[in-house]
Amino acid sequence: MPSKASNVWIANLSHTFKKQTKPTLKDINLSIPKGQLTALIGRSGCGKSTLLQMIAGLLIPSDGAIRINGHTVTKPSAKWNMMFQKPSLYPWMTVRENAALGLVFSGTYKDKKDKVEDLLDMVGLAEHKDKNVQQLSGGQQQRVALARSLATEPEILLLDEPFSALDAFTRTSLQNEVSQICHDQGITMVMVTHDIEEAVAMADKVIIMSQNPGEIVGELSVDFSYPRDRSSDAFNILKEQLFAEFEKIDQAKQKALQETA
Ligand SMILES: Nc1ncnc2c1ncn2[C@@H]1O[C@H](COP(=O)(O)OP(=O)(O)OP(=O)(O)O)[C@@H](O)[C@H]1O
Ligand SMILES: [Mg+2]
Repeated sequence: MPSKASNVWIANLSHTFKKQTKPTLKDINLSIPKGQLTALIGRSGCGKSTLLQMIAGLLIPSDGAIRINGHTVTKPSAKWNMMFQKPSLYPWMTVRENAALGLVFSGTYKDKKDKVEDLLDMVGLAEHKDKNVQQLSGGQQQRVALARSLATEPEILLLDEPFSALDAFTRTSLQNEVSQICHDQGITMVMVTHDIEEAVAMADKVIIMSQNPGEIVGELSVDFSYPRDRSSDAFNILKEQLFAEFEKIDQAKQKALQETA
């Protein structure tokens, strides 16, 4: 049974897409505690986005179950927000209108107007609020999507490589801001990333996935306090340890696959 402390609980989840013979995800078991930030890392194609979409209720696994606060996930909910790999914005709307969308849908925009302004300032779009989103760069559009995801104060935030299109300076400051916001507001966050430094900078726990089929093959707890000092020895030792662990597991699996081929 799911433990009371866990917010997201995944049990024996496997998934094979239609018309495929091999599973994309196999025997995934994961418990994500409330208010914690979990990072999923793994090579391209190992099933990270698929798993995230399943937590969001956008895809239903062919086997196993996902429960959030004890309820089986069967469809999307307003309590959790997913930010996709590519920002899905309405091209005919302004930056402010796009960022406010979740609040407009829930009928709370009038009371929370300031929140949208504050979040757009935080993500560095203060001077672009009245622009049409089509006038923005890809990275700026991604920041609009991030502001929109945070505006509704979701219980769970699911982020699929949220910072990959950003320049290094913006990326570092947003990594710090977003992990701070999530911890301050008690938001449970699951984030997919390719970036080992990003995982160590933001996550309470890092889950390592491998591919063919997508499986969980390791995990690492990160116990540093926030904001994290990226120049500290401890930070860099952990980063290297995670990289080495990832490589070791990955190579062992590729070797095993070659032997059975
Ligand atoms: N709708 C679909 N139908 C069939 N196969 C799919 C579908 N969606 C994804 N896949 C396959 O499932 C596997 C996992 O895809 P997924 O997008 O979850 O990978 P990922 O780990 O997020 O990769 P990346 O890091 O490149 O984003 C891939 O081999 C992909 O081709
Ligand atoms: Mg993906």
